[in-house]
Amino acid sequence: MLLSEKLKESTYQSHIGLEKLTVPLIRQSTSRENYTKLLGLFYDYFNELDKKIADIAEIREVPDFSKRRSSSWLKQEIESLGLEVSDEEVSSAPQINSAFEALGAMYVMEGSTLGGQHITKMLGKLYEDKDHDFIFFNGYGEQTHAMWANFKEYLNSIPENAHDEVIKSANETFEGFAAHISLHSL
Ligand code: HEM
Repeated sequence: MLLSEKLKESTYQSHIGLEKLTVPLIRQSTSRENYTKLLGLFYDYFNELDKKIADIAEIREVPDFSKRRSSSWLKQEIESLGLEVSDEEVSSAPQINSAFEALGAMYVMEGSTLGGQHITKMLGKLYEDKDHDFIFFNGYGEQTHAMWANFKEYLNSIPENAHDEVIKSANETFEGFAAHISLHSL
C-alpha cells in the first residue's frame, strides 16, 4: 500500500476528532476579534512545528518546500488584522528528531490546505468583512490540489521500512493539535 494511502487511513479517526473541535471555532469566527484568535490558535501550533522541522535539513527535499505554506503566512495575516503574534512554546506538539518524523508533521500541515478550502467557504459566508482575503485557510487556492499531488508523490517515494515512523508522527501531530485546541477558547 502507498504511504499516502496508509496515512489517510491511519489518521482518519484523528482527523474526525480534530474536525469536531475546529468546526465550532470556525462557526464562532464571525467577528474580526474571534477570527484573529482562531488564527492565533493555528499560529501557535504551526509555528512550534515549523521550529522543530527547521532543524531537519532533509525536509527541504519536499518539492516546492520554500513555496509551501508556513506559519509565516499566519503571522502575516494576523498582523494585517492589527494584532501581534506570541512566541510561547506549545507543549503538546510532538518531538521531531528525524526526517521521517518531520514528514509526518508536514503531512498534517499540508493536508490541512485541503480542509482549508472548505473552511474558506464557511468563513466567506460567516465573516463580517466580506472583502477579507483568507490567506492562511485558502492555502494555495486553485493550486491546492496540484501542490497536494506533488507532496503525495514525494510521500510515496519513502522506503517502506520508514512508513510506521511517518504515520506515528502524523497521528501525534493531529493529537497534539487537538490537545492544544482543547486547552483554549476564542
Ligand atoms: C473544519 C475543519 C476541517 C474540515 C471540514 C476538513 C475537511 C477535509 C476534507 C474534506 C478533506 C479531504 C479533501 C480531499 O481529499 O480533497 C481533508 C483532508 C485533510 N485534512 Fe482536513 N478538514 C478540517 C480540518 C483540518 C485540520 C485542522 C487539519 C490539520 C491541522 C486537517 C488535516 C487534513 C489532512 C492531513 C488531510 C489529508 C487527508 C489525506 O491524506 O487525503 N484538516 N480535510
